[in-house]
Amino acid sequence: MLIRNRRLRSSEAIRSLVRETSLSPNDFIVPLFVVEGKDVKEEIASMPNYFRYSLDLLEKEVKELWNSGLKAVLVFVKVPEKLKDNEGTEALNANGLMQRAVKTIKNAVPEMLVMTDVALDPYSSYGHDGIVENGEILNDATTKVLAKMALSHVKAGADFVAPSDMMDGRILVIRELLEKNNYDKAGIMSYSAKYASAFYGPFRDALDSAPGFGDKKTYQMDPANREEAIKETLMDIEEGADIVMVKPGLCYLDIVRDIRNAVDVPVAVYQVSGEYAMIKAAAEKGWLDHDAVMLEQLTAIKRAGAQMIASYFAKDAVKLL
Ligand code: PBG
Repeated sequence: MLIRNRRLRSSEAIRSLVRETSLSPNDFIVPLFVVEGKDVKEEIASMPNYFRYSLDLLEKEVKELWNSGLKAVLVFVKVPEKLKDNEGTEALNANGLMQRAVKTIKNAVPEMLVMTDVALDPYSSYGHDGIVENGEILNDATTKVLAKMALSHVKAGADFVAPSDMMDGRILVIRELLEKNNYDKAGIMSYSAKYASAFYGPFRDALDSAPGFGDKKTYQMDPANREEAIKETLMDIEEGADIVMVKPGLCYLDIVRDIRNAVDVPVAVYQVSGEYAMIKAAAEKGWLDHDAVMLEQLTAIKRAGAQMIASYFAKDAVKLL
């Protein structure tokens, strides 16, 4: 035998020398859930050890993130029921929770990259990502609101907006409105290949944003489709997306690699709430080694082609890196 592959695996020193993929704090975007109130830090039932923060505690949290080497956050808000309507009117409130959250973060840590979720579902009385008419989700009426929402986030100080709705043409409509208002520096991270996944369940608990009727299959992608993900992503890039995203992570790593090979903009992956909940639950039962499985999955996501990962494990992971 001339070739023995085990020679390159024989010690940690040689293994680390030939390792092709490694994780660093630079890889992560930290999702943050924000609520109204004072001194609130509520654990999300289906997301153990993950919390919703009121603005006063958010400040402390982002300082901690920054000090641990995490430099980007993706903000979501839990909107009080009484402020929800079909058009997502509250989303445009210059003094709304999202807008205040952005300012709070930027005040606490000016260098922190602030990304905001742009979609109507947390604001929608129907829990859908678009305006509803006769049981249908309207496309073009929705993108107009999304663009105004994005502009409002950027005015509050967001560096990037992250449209997660999957309406057609929304990247162009958002980009044009930002340019028209001279916010040419604001970036767009598009959820380009976002699947109609059952893995979003815990997130919808976190924000109380589950669809009131039906499902999201008329706008989010069919998990059975692969070619379509490339088409969606290339369109978003043509419309002005700076970063494209695949979501969820683990079940869609083939898509991540396809897209990484097909595009020349950075590719992000969202390891979603259900992926987090699965590991936490199995670890609680003692059936899986939490840290080992977490790092294995994050490494696999990066190996598949993700240049950045939005993950609820970001804090846990950097402690081990
Ligand atoms: C809202 C949105 C969702 C997620 C991110 N933005 C839920 C959905 O589309 O229903 C899911 C994130 C997660 O599960 O961690 N448009």
